[in-house]
Amino acid sequence: MSEPIIEINHLSYDYPDRRVLSDISLAVRQGEFLAIVGENGSGKSTLIKCILGLLKPEGSIRLFGRELDQFDEWWRISYVSQKAASFNSGFPVTVEEVVEMGLYAKKGLFKRLKKGDRTKVRQALETVGMWDRRSSKVGDLSGGQQQRVFIARALVNDPELMILDEPTVGVDQRYVKEFYEILEELRADKKRTFVLVTHDIHFVSRLVTDVVHLIDGKLGCNCGIKEYWELDEKEIRSLYPVPGRVLVHEGERV
Ligand SMILES: Nc1ncnc2c1ncn2[C@@H]1O[C@H](COP(=O)(O)OP(=O)(O)OP(=O)(O)O)[C@@H](O)[C@H]1O
Ligand SMILES: [Mg+2]
Repeated sequence: MSEPIIEINHLSYDYPDRRVLSDISLAVRQGEFLAIVGENGSGKSTLIKCILGLLKPEGSIRLFGRELDQFDEWWRISYVSQKAASFNSGFPVTVEEVVEMGLYAKKGLFKRLKKGDRTKVRQALETVGMWDRRSSKVGDLSGGQQQRVFIARALVNDPELMILDEPTVGVDQRYVKEFYEILEELRADKKRTFVLVTHDIHFVSRLVTDVVHLIDGKLGCNCGIKEYWELDEKEIRSLYPVPGRVLVHEGERV
């Protein structure tokens, strides 16, 4: 079996006043689509930030087979944060430039963009319905529109690993659907790997192969999607300290 794309061993993380993640171990392999679920405050975003090297946890993280502190091929990864829309609105950069930045990560800052690159930028912006606004300053857009621009930036680079922290919060429904259709296309060849934090696993369940369910910073379950649906409501509830806060049903699936 190939080496995991992400390998986490005994990861714990404390904010100054409290432990937020405890002894997390998991592996994500090429072609997996991992959904990370859990209540508000269960540590999902903190885990993502640890994987991206933005926070320094205890334990070890390996990306593409290398220890995180030796990993320097960040262009292989794209990331949409939960609050991309909290972007510094005074930053004088246009929609098109933000998406181009996604390409520079791969090409290096001083390489000129070629015609093919321009086409990629255009396609990514058309996908999220923002091509017409390409010359607008990002700071002048609404939160949902900004989020769409950051989704375009994540797509343009054709990344091997996409890490998405509730990427569609605040985005109009029709673009949400389109976005997940694109993810479905992107994963058709099963070469790309996805980690998606979501509160709506029913909506994306057709894409998902594996589920990590965080409960108060601990690994409540780490299993395949089929197994996850087979856990009955009682079992999932028993993972939670407060009963009745999780509703497991088949629900509407894409
Ligand atoms: N910078 C910070 N300093 C101190 N505590 C923090 C900080 N960021 C997050 N926390 C706390 O850590 C815990 C986990 O937060 P985190 O953002 O990882 O949760 P989450 O699962 O992503 O929640 P949500 O579903 O609301 O996005 C929460 O209790 C939160 O209040
Ligand atoms: Mg979060």
